[in-house]
Amino acid sequence: MLLLENKAKEASNMIIVYESKTGFTKKYADMLAAKTGFRTFRVKELSKDLQDEEVLFLGWMKAGKIQGLNKARKYKVMAVCGSGSAETADPDTETVIAKNKLAGVPFFYMRGGCFPLSELKGSNKVLMSIFIKILKSRKVGNKDEAISNIRNGFDGVKQENLEPVLAWINAR
Ligand SMILES: Cc1cc2nc3c(=O)[nH]c(=O)nc-3n(C[C@H](O)[C@H](O)[C@H](O)COP(=O)(O)O)c2cc1C
Repeated sequence: MLLLENKAKEASNMIIVYESKTGFTKKYADMLAAKTGFRTFRVKELSKDLQDEEVLFLGWMKAGKIQGLNKARKYKVMAVCGSGSAETADPDTETVIAKNKLAGVPFFYMRGGCFPLSELKGSNKVLMSIFIKILKSRKVGNKDEAISNIRNGFDGVKQENLEPVLAWINAR
């Protein structure tokens, strides 16, 4: 792991650009910055000065759509990470790639986390309540845990979830 980290520090420079509403995706952006030395920017901080920089983009997922990605697309996006509350990409990776027009762009899913449902507001609360109903209707074994995570909140951010993207950075 140490070797992986050192190699990441030597890898050609990129910038990390992220969109995070409740902070879980930001945690991943900061963790990646610490490992690689890359600078981080929020999407709203992007400016013309950064137009020539290669971008590693991280965004939170809302009904399968990676937030902030459309704005970041005006820059040189080399790979995209989506953070969601599900254990593995939900909707599945193929759907996320299609929905976000990511064909040919490396995509990495990272489990983020969520605040308790009671702390969400407006359309986010409505959408998450609908998501719970969808989960309830699914015939899968681990749906109770997924529903409880959304109701009560949880933090699924882990260093090990960065390994695939760090391996990609090192292989460039
Ligand atoms: C309205 C809404 C829709 C969401 N849709 C998805 C989804 O489609 N797939 C998923 O895995 N997580 C989904 N989530 C969970 C967030 O993507 C997850 O909590 C993410 O890690 C939050 O990142 P942030 O703290 O950086 O904003 C949704 C959350 C909200 C509030």
